[in-house]
Amino acid sequence: MSSEKEIRKYLDRFSSDDYRFAVIKVGGAVIQSDLENLVSSLTFLNEVGLRPIIVHGGGPKLSEELHKRKIEFSFVNGQRVTTKEVLEVAFEIFSGENKKIVSALKDKEVHAMPIIGDIFDCDIENSELGLVGDIKNTDSSKIKDIISSGGIPVIAPMGYTKDNQLVNINGDKATLALAKEIIPDKVIFLSDVGGVFDGNDNLISNINIKDDYENLMSQDWLHSGMKLKLQQIKLLLDSLPSNSSVSITKPLHLNRELFTDAGFGTLVKAGHQIDKLTSLNKKQEETVTSILESSFKGTLNNDYFKNGLKEFYLSSCNRASIVTTKHKNITYMDKFAVINSARGEGLGNAMWNRMLSEHNKIFWRSRSRNAINNFYKDVCDGFQKYDEWSIFWIGIDDLDQLTACIDFAVKQPATISYEN
Ligand code: ARG
Repeated sequence: MSSEKEIRKYLDRFSSDDYRFAVIKVGGAVIQSDLENLVSSLTFLNEVGLRPIIVHGGGPKLSEELHKRKIEFSFVNGQRVTTKEVLEVAFEIFSGENKKIVSALKDKEVHAMPIIGDIFDCDIENSELGLVGDIKNTDSSKIKDIISSGGIPVIAPMGYTKDNQLVNINGDKATLALAKEIIPDKVIFLSDVGGVFDGNDNLISNINIKDDYENLMSQDWLHSGMKLKLQQIKLLLDSLPSNSSVSITKPLHLNRELFTDAGFGTLVKAGHQIDKLTSLNKKQEETVTSILESSFKGTLNNDYFKNGLKEFYLSSCNRASIVTTKHKNITYMDKFAVINSARGEGLGNAMWNRMLSEHNKIFWRSRSRNAINNFYKDVCDGFQKYDEWSIFWIGIDDLDQLTACIDFAVKQPATISYEN
């Protein structure tokens, strides 16, 4: 997989709260065709002590069964119109799909517990849809009991109205309602597709709602089902704390998605607000200092903020910063720092792109053994390697100018000191 350190970082993060690790939505198609990978990924989580909350669908199987029994059905805005007859079959199918997951997990000694119908209190808001429930209240006590006894709750998307009428609930809506109630670190959608793909069929690794949403929604290569899902994810992220995230992946890749920085799937975050500042107040100085010291693992010189005219990019989550100065009207990037716990979210990329969009000519240096140099080599127009430093640049094509910049960069005094 990846380095042990990376895995440990995520394990620590996900273990920090018993109930709030993750709500995982298992798409209906996964139960039909990928149950084995699902069970082995979940078994791994269980073995390392993480207890996700599982919600599953069953739509494809239900349609299949209705066809078989020659029961007519239809959809309105992606929601299944549920007659009494459809509801009876739905109950049968959801119970059956639920049992498939629960028994497969039990076979692997995972203490999985079924929940069907009794945690969602619903109203019927749109009678055109028949017996379809809109969730008014989610009772999480049963879920918490199961988790505190070391179990994994497996929830079917069904509920009851006040009059004790069983109702069908859209699986994604049940997932969102649960997420709002639990406020998990992660919400994960497991599908057989395993992510959002662009027009060339490449997996989109990161989506920041703030920067990417409008653009994505206007693309004709993004099919309507995925647009609907993104719309719902956006609503969900609006109501969760800003460090929560949604991952879309497939069962086989779940643990790589969870335990590595790069992941394997699509990670959706609310996005990053990045401020540009030309001077800092005391509090902001402290924030930037702590970002720099934590990501470079050294001590910042105490006259750092006094020397020279600097510009600062600072993420509103206070976890990343870029500091620039000018040398003869060309931008010198003096620091680029993302704290360790924020890596893998696309925050560094968002900072970089913001800075890049505001400067045409940039140069910077980096210690030769810094792991970020591979990224720098990708994005720069050229670089010059010395023993201690590598100097990179973008947009500087005048040779004299370039020589002067390289000379300037090499001669910069160190502003971070390291013990021994
Ligand atoms: N492991 C981290 C998480 O689950 C980062 C995942 C990054 N994934 C991605 N598709 N970019 O939050």
